[in-house]
Amino acid sequence: MKFELTEEHLMIQKAARDFAQNELLPGVIDRDTHEKFPAEQVKMMGELGFMGMMVDPKYGGSGMDTISYVLAMEELSKVDASASVVMSVNNSLVCWGLEKFGTEEQKQKYLVPLAKGEIIGAFCLSEPEAGSDATSQKTTAIDKGDHYLLNGTKNWITNGNSASVYLVMAQTDVDKAHRGINCLIVERDMEGFTVGKKEEKMGIRGSDTHSLMFSDVKVPKENRLGEDGFGFKFAMKVLSGGRIGIAAQALGIASGAYELALKYSKERKAFGKTISDHQAIAFKLADMSTEIDAARLMVLRSAWLKDQGLPFDRESAMAKLFASSAAMKHTVEAVQIHGGYGYVKEYHVERLMRDAKITQIYEGTSEIQKLVISRDILKD
Ligand code: CAA
Repeated sequence: MKFELTEEHLMIQKAARDFAQNELLPGVIDRDTHEKFPAEQVKMMGELGFMGMMVDPKYGGSGMDTISYVLAMEELSKVDASASVVMSVNNSLVCWGLEKFGTEEQKQKYLVPLAKGEIIGAFCLSEPEAGSDATSQKTTAIDKGDHYLLNGTKNWITNGNSASVYLVMAQTDVDKAHRGINCLIVERDMEGFTVGKKEEKMGIRGSDTHSLMFSDVKVPKENRLGEDGFGFKFAMKVLSGGRIGIAAQALGIASGAYELALKYSKERKAFGKTISDHQAIAFKLADMSTEIDAARLMVLRSAWLKDQGLPFDRESAMAKLFASSAAMKHTVEAVQIHGGYGYVKEYHVERLMRDAKITQIYEGTSEIQKLVISRDILKD
């Protein structure tokens, strides 16, 4: 077993770190405060090859492995989790799904511009009454011969207003329950499709989260992904890979807060010495670095399994469960170490604390990860 990153991995990690420090950090507080989408920064991420990192270069991607992807996700998330969720959804949920299950025509038409970062994609599963219980889709896609007639509402959709291409799960045959669900590729300008209300959020405030409405949208048959009735399995498979990206995001939020707390603790003096010299703080730093290290190993393991073509559903759920819990716990500690400074925006840790919470909710709550893990452990 080798615990070493390759030269290429180190280069990607450095490129992502430099980008985060030079391009994301300067405006991150303003974007968070005023809920501004990082449009310019996402465009640069496309130019750097971060929007289709694992996609084959023949489809406009960077042809890198999942390890490179999680390294980049960690670095970007240390600074700006709003920008990194745009990257995560585009890479893991949209590009990967299209590359793995799309037809050649679908890849040429949609994957190429998505992987190049020329356009952004969104993944649309959640509904007002179907969050964790994703089989209960109320959105319908009625088979009309050469097209599907799409009707319904989706909620909490990341990239809701910035996307051009939407992968929408909808029920075609109610009698078949989850086996009657399809995934349709919907274009933003299709008639009957409207972007609804923007959510005002606690964290990741720079990302745009919207409800979407579909009213008699005619989606051509050739825009269905996979075989008839494959939509739910498609969503589950894609989300399982997506959880590696969100685990890496949680890891980045935790390690970003830890690095800030470590630096601050070595500068700030109290009772005649730096606060890092007080055991109360030093022990907090020891706990933080230990759990963040463990989270990193779990994230890298799930990325490695995916790269090897080995099963990773359990490990990606474990990585997300552990890393998101570490993110929540240690961003709170980072605020505590900063004292009063931690409670003001200028010191960044309060934003990281707010951003951390979503990693325990989206792409499956912590409870859903426990369900996935326990079912896998108990299946034999
Ligand atoms: N790969 C392939 N197939 C899978 C699968 C996987 N990882 N997981 C489940 N399936 C299949 C099962 O084999 C089963 O198929 P068959 O009946 O044909 O054998 C089918 O899916 C149904 O599975 P279950 O019986 O396990 O379904 P369930 O209802 O009991 O539970 C669940 C499924 C795990 C709870 C699932 O509903 C789930 O993951 N829920 C959470 C949804 C979620 O993560 N939503 C996030 C929204 S997207 C988002 O957040 C993106 C963003 O904006 C950042």
